[in-house]
Amino acid sequence: MIELKEAAYGYGGGPLLSDMTLRLAPGSFHFLTGPSGAGKTTFLKLCYADLRATGGSVTIFGQESAEMSRDEIARTRQRMGVVHQDCEFLDHLSLKENIALPLTVTGRGGQAQEANLSDLMGWVGLSARAGALPPELSGGERQRAALARAVITDPDVILADEPTGNIDWEMSLRLLQLLVELNRMGKTVLVATHDLALIRAAKAQVSARVLRIAGGRLQLAGAEL
Ligand SMILES: Nc1ncnc2c1ncn2[C@@H]1O[C@H](COP(=O)(O)OP(=O)(O)OP(=O)(O)O)[C@@H](O)[C@H]1O
Ligand SMILES: [Mg+2]
Repeated sequence: MIELKEAAYGYGGGPLLSDMTLRLAPGSFHFLTGPSGAGKTTFLKLCYADLRATGGSVTIFGQESAEMSRDEIARTRQRMGVVHQDCEFLDHLSLKENIALPLTVTGRGGQAQEANLSDLMGWVGLSARAGALPPELSGGERQRAALARAVITDPDVILADEPTGNIDWEMSLRLLQLLVELNRMGKTVLVATHDLALIRAAKAQVSARVLRIAGGRLQLAGAEL
């Protein structure tokens, strides 16, 4: 699904990530941890072809990202749900319209989708805020909306960058539950998080691999959790 082979990346001042080798198999669940600034967000950007590896290769749905055209990247992204660490919304559209936007722009609105949208907003606890404008939302509400927006198109792969950073424990568990359910339906999930308690909670429910980026390298972690 997504495969990195000795992938490397640097923003210009020397390599940040090197020798990243990982295969995200269909239906797998991965966590990515590591200190702030270690390169978790950068790693995710390589996975959704926002950045191109400066060494090695990244293959997404069988296509090497270095060789993909803009259109191919756009098409590939339609199969991925990305939750950005700094979630951004269109401030003049309501929360509900923002969450539905990936459907609207790909012409997939409709009655079945409308029901799906209401269910999803209920799941992330935002039904009562459907009409609110993004600037009126709290940090945690924005994060919950970002997760809903990422999964509304029923993507094959979900890449979530600190999806529970601003959220209380109970709601974090609820969002985790959503990711676990989606994984049980066959979706591939990768979650970058600092929250080791969240990883522990997940391990009781799903067989997840825990990766850690430290010193520019990717290691398998988890035994200590
Ligand atoms: N666009 C950029 N240009 C130059 N340096 C960058 C850029 N984006 C990130 N960096 C640097 O790369 C390093 C890794 O950043 P990244 O955002 O991937 O870390 P992270 O592990 O996600 O951190 P956090 O846990 O704080 O989110 C940091 O030192 C950061 O300052
Ligand atoms: Mg980050």
